[in-house]
Amino acid sequence: MNLNAAFWQDKYQSGDTPWDIGYPSPPICNFVTKLSDKDIAILIPGAGKAHEAAFLWQQGFRNIAICDWASAAFEEVQRKIPDMPAENYRIGNFFDLNGQFDLILEQTFFCAIAPAQRADYAAKCFELLKPGGLLAGLLFNKVFEKPGPPFGGDAQTYQSIFSPYFTIHKMIPAEDSISPRNGNELFFVLEKPYVN
Ligand SMILES: C[S@@+](CC[C@H](N)C(=O)[O-])C[C@H]1O[C@@H](n2cnc3c(N)ncnc32)[C@H](O)[C@@H]1O
Repeated sequence: MNLNAAFWQDKYQSGDTPWDIGYPSPPICNFVTKLSDKDIAILIPGAGKAHEAAFLWQQGFRNIAICDWASAAFEEVQRKIPDMPAENYRIGNFFDLNGQFDLILEQTFFCAIAPAQRADYAAKCFELLKPGGLLAGLLFNKVFEKPGPPFGGDAQTYQSIFSPYFTIHKMIPAEDSISPRNGNELFFVLEKPYVN
């Protein structure tokens, strides 16, 4: 299976989006509502219909970049967040992104990329974060029986991917997952150290 932009674009165009929960993920909402500085630069990679971006916008965050290479995903976002300017949309490959962010939010993007690309994901997030910046969000705490996507894993596997780059502050079973994912998600917070 070639997990390229056309694969994902076709999923959105045919309405075959079982990963899309239709609203912002509660563990991510609970995390961002504790952030006091609304000016921080936030990236949501593989944002899809970007429910989390709509939540951030409602909360007063404006310095948000949403990246996805399936432009069809963003049609709905434009209706949901009509005031969000064009420069906040990064339509293209996450691995080609430029910029410097304070926070990268992970919600079912890591599980959508091939496991062989996971080390590149960690390296790219490291590159895109400012020193002291955070990579936070959700990872599946489950190995799926069917071939992915989604591709799952466990805390030990993820720690070995991220620890060469990040300080792992938290990687624990999420307490407030949506019910179909209850018990199957880890909430994590990683920090790019000031000196690596
Ligand atoms: C499983 S979906 C998750 C979408 C959204 N985060 C959600 O939870 O509804 C994975 C998303 O990542 C996007 N994607 C996959 N690989 C990508 C890449 N290399 N660059 C940009 N977007 C990518 C897909 O187009 C898709 O929208």
